[in-house]
Amino acid sequence: MAEAHRLETDVLVVGSGPAGASASLFLATYGTRVIMITRYGRLSQTPRAHVTNQRTLEALRDVGVEDEVIRAATPWDLIGTMTWSTSLAGEELGRLQALGTGTANRAEYELASPSPMLDCPQSILEPILVTAAQRRGATVRFDTEYVSHTQDASGVDVTVRDRLTDQELTVRARYLIGADGARSMVARDLDLDIKGLGVLGGALNLVIEADLTHLVAHRPSNLYFMVQPGGSERQGVGVEFLRMVKPWTQWLMTVGYDVEAGPPELTEEFVRQTAVRLVGTDDFDLKILSASPWTVNHGYATTLSSGRVFCVGDAVHRHSPNNGLGSNTSIQDSYNLAWKLHLVVQGLASPTLLESYTAERAPVARQVVERATTSISDLGTILAALGVDDSTDAEMLNKQLALRKTPGPQGEDIRRALREAFAFQAYQFSAHGVELNQRYTSRAVVTDGSPVPEYRQDPELFAQASSRPGAKLPHTWVTRHHRSVSTLDLGGRGTFSVWTGVGGLAWAQAAKAVTARTGLPLTVVDVGPGLSAEDPYGTWAQLREVEDTGVLLVRPDLYVAARLDRLPGSPDDAERWLSGALEAVLGATART
Ligand code: FDA
Repeated sequence: MAEAHRLETDVLVVGSGPAGASASLFLATYGTRVIMITRYGRLSQTPRAHVTNQRTLEALRDVGVEDEVIRAATPWDLIGTMTWSTSLAGEELGRLQALGTGTANRAEYELASPSPMLDCPQSILEPILVTAAQRRGATVRFDTEYVSHTQDASGVDVTVRDRLTDQELTVRARYLIGADGARSMVARDLDLDIKGLGVLGGALNLVIEADLTHLVAHRPSNLYFMVQPGGSERQGVGVEFLRMVKPWTQWLMTVGYDVEAGPPELTEEFVRQTAVRLVGTDDFDLKILSASPWTVNHGYATTLSSGRVFCVGDAVHRHSPNNGLGSNTSIQDSYNLAWKLHLVVQGLASPTLLESYTAERAPVARQVVERATTSISDLGTILAALGVDDSTDAEMLNKQLALRKTPGPQGEDIRRALREAFAFQAYQFSAHGVELNQRYTSRAVVTDGSPVPEYRQDPELFAQASSRPGAKLPHTWVTRHHRSVSTLDLGGRGTFSVWTGVGGLAWAQAAKAVTARTGLPLTVVDVGPGLSAEDPYGTWAQLREVEDTGVLLVRPDLYVAARLDRLPGSPDDAERWLSGALEAVLGATART
């Protein structure tokens, strides 16, 4: 082996999946030097994660990549008519208007965010993120794998191996991010405690090309579930389904397998038979693109970092694809961490700010793992409505399916139970609250003493805006130069923002004074008649929850860090309050 070489950077990211690619993109956009290494000579070739939720798109919107993702993805209108049937060509048992595509739901989603829901397979998303990161200065090294690391008071020495030359290099980084997925070596080397049940089941991902337009285009969706007489035991994610990768010609079939017995041999014949069984006819041409087994896991870390090393994504939360939270949560971890690292590297925040990463994201890791796992068993309510445990007993299931169509109390019971069971799946396919209601409690949030607002509706299903510190900045449409912009477009961009209204001039002056003294850039957002943004519909005034002269201090990740209901006594008091709030969040640095 050749002599070790040495590279130097501010942040080294291991892994180019959604977590690592987005961490590199956020950091490079903010202006932090970043190197991303990834084991293989390519990005993900299989679609894997696909539902891209509003919060993820808000993060990508903030760094100017949302439009590109929207152009590449399957649009919102084509992804939500989820169906349950005996096969794609067979009897349809029911539908759910999911992912915010129902009329009432759609309004809720549109009120909560400027961004849509989309279907963007990982194989399409990753290249967009990586290319954008490179365009902004991130260095990307393919065929390079993480081997080990040691850390000291000022940085981390990471040993990496160039897999093409088998040469080892040392990368000296101020911080290391382990975004190396569910088998994370970085998390293992940190000895992070992964709690949970481990492997829950086995599933096969079989990716095919087949033009099924005639069977699906009239009920557009990204998921078509099967309740198939003589089908399978409830393995994997508890149900078999066809997932649209490209409308309506590329598909991913997911079927379960018994982990104890191991995956079946993934022959061409096996894939073809599975396709014919799920589609319900054999009159289509089929090309097999890939076939791979994977395991459904249950595990989450309660601590996400140690010293100068941080883990994001599947490295610290592993769960089933139900609820589509895998890649979304991974990108949102990185969005949470990147601005903190950037400010610390810049010397504008104390390293103590980084403690808030675990405090804020570990509860989310646990929440998404539990939610996705509960959703596996929730799918069982559909079979339970039909009075069966699984679909293996064809005779019994056929009998129940026939009963469903007969008059009388038995048929009525099945019809009612099925209606309820389909509607119940909203907890995994329209869990808007799970996606947007994450509230943070940490040292990077200054509580204002106000009581935690009660949720008016089910907090898993419905998003509820709040400007209470620790909540996401509420979205609404305001105008700038008479053009509509989201409130989210006025903050972010790697910078804290100071929000006020008419009579809040003292906050703008305070922000200017703090920036002059500390070097910390602050964006002033004043909203009201004659100010830099206007609130013509009056919706911002309803959502901001402070008076005209009050203030919101908003973090670069568009979370509210602190708020004050109204202007304190004098302009000096405003500056004192703002300095105090920033110091509480950023920690005492030489400059604050
Ligand atoms: P991810 O696993 O995507 O990326 C890890 C990266 O680290 C890769 O680039 C890898 O090459 C690299 N790496 C690993 N070890 C390394 C080392 N030692 N050195 C350098 N690089 C290293 N989710 C969902 O929401 N819906 C779905 O349908 C599915 N389906 C699905 C199928 C299969 C087969 C799997 C394995 C997973 C899913 N998921 C999913 C989960 C989803 O894909 C997952 O949540 C995200 O990919 C997590 O993103 P990460 O970036 O954290 O890890």
